[in-house]
Amino acid sequence: MAPTALVGGLVAAFVAVAQAQSGGSAMLRFGCSNIVIDRIDPLVDPGKIPSPHVHQIIGGDAFNATMPVGDISQIATCTSCTFEEDFSNYWTANVYFKARNGTYKRVPIMVNDAIGAANGGMTVYYSAPGKNTVTAFKPGFRMFSGDAKRRAPTNLGKATQSCFRCYDGPNFKGNVNSPCFDPVRDTEGFPTKPCLGGWRSSVLFPICWDGKNLDSPNHADHVAHPVGGPASFTSMGGKCPSTHPVKIPQIHLEIVWDTTKFNNKADWPADGSQPFVLSHGDTTGYGQHGDYVFGWKGDSLQKAMDNACFATNCKQLKSQTFPQANKCLVKTAVKENNDGWLDHLPGMEGM
Ligand SMILES: *[C@@H]1O[C@H](CO)[C@@H](O)[C@H](O)[C@H]1NC(C)=O
Ligand SMILES: *[C@@H]1O[C@H](CO)[C@@H](O)[C@H](O)[C@H]1NC(C)=O
Repeated sequence: MAPTALVGGLVAAFVAVAQAQSGGSAMLRFGCSNIVIDRIDPLVDPGKIPSPHVHQIIGGDAFNATMPVGDISQIATCTSCTFEEDFSNYWTANVYFKARNGTYKRVPIMVNDAIGAANGGMTVYYSAPGKNTVTAFKPGFRMFSGDAKRRAPTNLGKATQSCFRCYDGPNFKGNVNSPCFDPVRDTEGFPTKPCLGGWRSSVLFPICWDGKNLDSPNHADHVAHPVGGPASFTSMGGKCPSTHPVKIPQIHLEIVWDTTKFNNKADWPADGSQPFVLSHGDTTGYGQHGDYVFGWKGDSLQKAMDNACFATNCKQLKSQTFPQANKCLVKTAVKENNDGWLDHLPGMEGM
């Protein structure tokens, strides 16, 4: 594997992080396969079967419509992530294509650059600007990033918490800049033209915590972006507001969508507008969001952050292969068709 583009982007970001704080920066980057695609959401709609929209979920098999606030690494028996200590769950909305005839098809997930034989899923990053600079999450911690109701840009320029990269061609062509930092290929809303190599979603979580609450009513108020706007790779060194003084590891999710199967303009709307929609009914992409329930075992994440772990190189953590990780699955709670050509998005009868 010669992941030149990936390494270019990663190294650029890593160098920026390293420069922000002298020495000891950490940046885990690893793949997690899907454990299930389902219509449940233990963070925003606990106990609801079905919840309003479809998600794809990765991580530990303790995932459930209701999850206890506590140490889920004690409940989970396996994880779909390559780091064996990570029983966290991460989930996002799915992307669907709406054909000119009004029917929908779920956009498949491609495996990201330099990740390996994952089954769909996502790439997960955890970063710290230096040794002893971040406090790892506590058991029971959960949070939400983004705003599912947003339908307009935040106008924060590159300092965005959510973006899409439009690849120039196969094999992640044009993947050079850090996520959300490419002035041409990155947009905060959906790409408006067919992308010859598909797209990549980035969802960046806040990096400042109030130091007290494991959660908050909207799952976002107990965390905050650093002063000066949402975090990005290069602002890991940013200052936290006085209300949220504790710096936490930066979580960043990437999902690569194989939109190339849907590039035939004859299937796009006659007015030339873009045909993709997030599973919660957002046709703009500005409402992209991510959910997180912390589930690392013991102090394993803290150790990884304090020992300059980089990508999958981390002596403090144990790794499993994808054939092992891919065996970790969760049973579907809501039996419905979320694939095939559908006449409406699951849970969205009006669309
Ligand atoms: C999920 O919740 C149901 C109902 O509470 C329970 O029966 C089941 O064992 C749970 N599954 C896991 C993996 O915790
Ligand atoms: C709608 O369009 C898609 C894409 O061209 C096609 O595969 C599908 O069969 C069509 N469905 C109906 C009901 O015409």
